[in-house]
Amino acid sequence: MASFNLLYLPGDGIGPEVMAEVKKIVAWMNAQGIARFETDQGLVGGSAHDAHGKAISEADMAKAQAADAVLFGAVGGPKWDKVPYDVRPEAGLLRLRKDLGLFANLRPAICYPALADASSLKKNVVEGLDILIVRELTGGVYFGEPKTITDLGNGQKRGIDTQVYDTFEIERIARVAFDLARTRRNKVSSAEKRNVMKTGVLWNEVVTRIHKEEYASVQLEHVLADNCAMQLVRWPKQYDVIVTDNLFGDVLSDVAAMLTGSLGMLPSASLGAPDAKTKRRKSLYEPVHGSAPDIAGTGAANPIAMIASFGMALRYSLAMGEWADRLDAAISAVLADGLRTRDIASETAPANATTTQMGDAILKALQSRA
Ligand code: IPM
Ligand code: MG
Repeated sequence: MASFNLLYLPGDGIGPEVMAEVKKIVAWMNAQGIARFETDQGLVGGSAHDAHGKAISEADMAKAQAADAVLFGAVGGPKWDKVPYDVRPEAGLLRLRKDLGLFANLRPAICYPALADASSLKKNVVEGLDILIVRELTGGVYFGEPKTITDLGNGQKRGIDTQVYDTFEIERIARVAFDLARTRRNKVSSAEKRNVMKTGVLWNEVVTRIHKEEYASVQLEHVLADNCAMQLVRWPKQYDVIVTDNLFGDVLSDVAAMLTGSLGMLPSASLGAPDAKTKRRKSLYEPVHGSAPDIAGTGAANPIAMIASFGMALRYSLAMGEWADRLDAAISAVLADGLRTRDIASETAPANATTTQMGDAILKALQSRA
């Protein structure tokens, strides 16, 4: 039987609550002998800051490097608003992404049939939606130097962030997008701002070349990132795979999330390059939503994005695609049954489930598919 090392990094706010629902599924799979998960847990974000004065400890970084998959909850909250910038909760997540080399962030936005009513958009716009945002995750303005605030000495300060992309960073994320498009509807939309940004000009040039040289059979279109945001709320079904940089990907994926009914629905996978020898990719799985400190501890959090992120781990890191399909089917069935956390409630389907009740129902639906 396959054996895997999973590292849980639940983080802050609702992170531990939604992670608890994944742990139940893992425990059941272990008990049934479906897989052998060796699990360990670490601290990240504000909780790590409270314990070690850093957003993630060296020991937990080493565990993350060694894991087959890292499951990440969420970080941040008002409690840590005043901590120094380089040890703020988000720094833990950014270090994980950078040090593990997780350059490819896959953010699928799927509108479950039962949730077409929960979106703020009209039902016919979102019904049956299935798009995938491929976000570059280790470059761009998130990591570019200089990144400073300097005192100009005249009562003024200057803040600088730097957007940088090298050819190889664009090539490798473009290949991920084209490869995935081939397994879907064979279309890639590349979003940048070539009309104002040099990185956008280069992005466009490199994606065009990779397409011509290696993926000419895939349909490619270029779209300005602002227009892409508008098109996403106008008629999102025109898209299949959207490939874009780190910052635009952050923004566009929040927009895409709302198309599916709630930010509480969107999972994500962050993958590194395959190891030359073992072919194994480093990986981290996290919901797109944040730590939602306003609802932490109230049982209102939706665990679906976290559970679906575990599903992506089964698919992309653990070669258990069949179980990933079963888990997706279980989520779909529970929603079709009318179970709703507060974020996905609508007039016709009122809120009727806590975090735990939703998690339990999904586990039960999964068990019935075993
Ligand atoms: C995301 C989040 C992060 C990001 C934050 C928490 C640093 O918004 O994963 O979308 O900006 O990448
Ligand atoms: Mg974001």
